[in-house]
Amino acid sequence: MKKRVLFVCLGNICRSPSAEAVFRNLVKKSGMENEILCDSAGIIGAHSSEPADSRMRVHASKRGYRLDSISRKFEPNIDFDNFDYIIGMDEENIWDLERLARGNDDLNKIHRMTDFSEKHAGQPVPDPYYGGARGFELVLDLLEDACKGFLQHIKNEIS
Ligand code: 4NP
Repeated sequence: MKKRVLFVCLGNICRSPSAEAVFRNLVKKSGMENEILCDSAGIIGAHSSEPADSRMRVHASKRGYRLDSISRKFEPNIDFDNFDYIIGMDEENIWDLERLARGNDDLNKIHRMTDFSEKHAGQPVPDPYYGGARGFELVLDLLEDACKGFLQHIKNEIS
């Protein structure tokens, strides 16, 4: 059975689509595409059906990531059942996910993205939407570190 991972942020146009692209890239490089699948979603549906934020896409593409996911709202009754790991980007995402959880099985699936970080453990992945270029670069720095640690975590679980 594949491990199924859902990355969640507020709007699903900056952080979680980037996490999805960074993580997918690592999974592919490790030859684990048959063992892991990933997707992303947002707590709010304000940007549903939109592509990722154009600024985020520009910064990601400079590092070789293609952000091709389309924004969608997190659906508790479907997503808590369909995924093994639900990964929030900051404390607000975690509170929202915990509020939407239907019980302990759901709560046990919720993790903070930087729980898995090697260099930046415990830091939130801050919302870059209203800031400048540095915010988008910071998101990618944090995600590259956290996704690497997260893949190692899954490898350890599988083996
Ligand atoms: P994200 O960034 O949660 O990283 O996708 C945001 C995008 C849009 C909004 C907030 C955060 N918004 O309020 O529209």
